[in-house]
Amino acid sequence: METRKKIALITGANRGLGFEIARQLGKKQIKVLIGARNVTAGEAATNRLIAEGIDAIFFLLDITQADSISNTVKLVTEKFGYLDILVNNAACLPKATDAGSPSQVGKQLLLDFLETNLLAQISVTQSFLPLIRQSTAGRIVNMSSTIGSVTISGEHLHQNGTKPPRIPYAVSKAAFNMFTVLLAKELRSEGIKVNSADPGLTQTDAGGPNAPYTVEQGARPAVWLSCLDDNGPTGCFFTHVDNHVVNNPW
Ligand SMILES: NC(=O)c1ccc[n+]([C@@H]2O[C@H](COP(=O)([O-])OP(=O)(O)OC[C@H]3O[C@@H](n4cnc5c(N)ncnc54)[C@H](OP(=O)(O)O)[C@@H]3O)[C@@H](O)[C@H]2O)c1
Repeated sequence: METRKKIALITGANRGLGFEIARQLGKKQIKVLIGARNVTAGEAATNRLIAEGIDAIFFLLDITQADSISNTVKLVTEKFGYLDILVNNAACLPKATDAGSPSQVGKQLLLDFLETNLLAQISVTQSFLPLIRQSTAGRIVNMSSTIGSVTISGEHLHQNGTKPPRIPYAVSKAAFNMFTVLLAKELRSEGIKVNSADPGLTQTDAGGPNAPYTVEQGARPAVWLSCLDDNGPTGCFFTHVDNHVVNNPW
């Protein structure tokens, strides 16, 4: 019997971890839809993947723009009619200049982070859900962070010398983790698996060149979660240690 090709949409796939996740999924013979908000950067990234023999297609997708999301949903619906894997990777990353300490942070900065890292992720997920429901093995992977782990942040409280992480990014990723858990519960009976991935501090524009992990390593939990079989976990949080994917504490 002919099996239809798996399709994955990765948001923010023009650079960094999103690009690498697309590359690794593409190497597994999955058709990758390259979501990016910038046409030039998105097309250039897609062409680099195609040059590596990967089945990649560019879609203009700004996750904070309702029109952009609905237009991409329409195009994917017309072209394919289903989506197997959604990787919610695009995000607003903290800058050294952000005044993000808990005692001083302003409302606008909090709103900016929550808009991209929580509300937009929920909109994208809800909008693509009808297409994911057309898959026989829907997988949703939410890119989170160690900084979004309440448990790990709590441990830091008791260590000398560590500064509290910038609160806008931290709360946005912690809230995104909560979305993972609750959506996983809702969709469990439909066989759609929803998990959070923590890449660890990774060598991207955001992570910087001195980060401990390469993009190949950082992409691994998300790629593994994208390809879970029917017995795989749902509603869980994973990272990697010594090149193995392991559970992360919430
Ligand atoms: N790198 C790390 O150390 C690290 C650690 C923990 C978690 N993470 C998570 O891993 C994911 C990827 O991080 P990264 O290091 O690859 O970040 P990055 O290098 O800063 O790339 C971020 C990507 O998100 C895109 N993006 C931002 N806002 C968008 C929007 N409104 N619509 C569409 N795309 C948008 C960016 O597009 P433009 O190019 O147009 O700006 C870019 O492609 C994020 O969710 C991040 O929180 C990263």
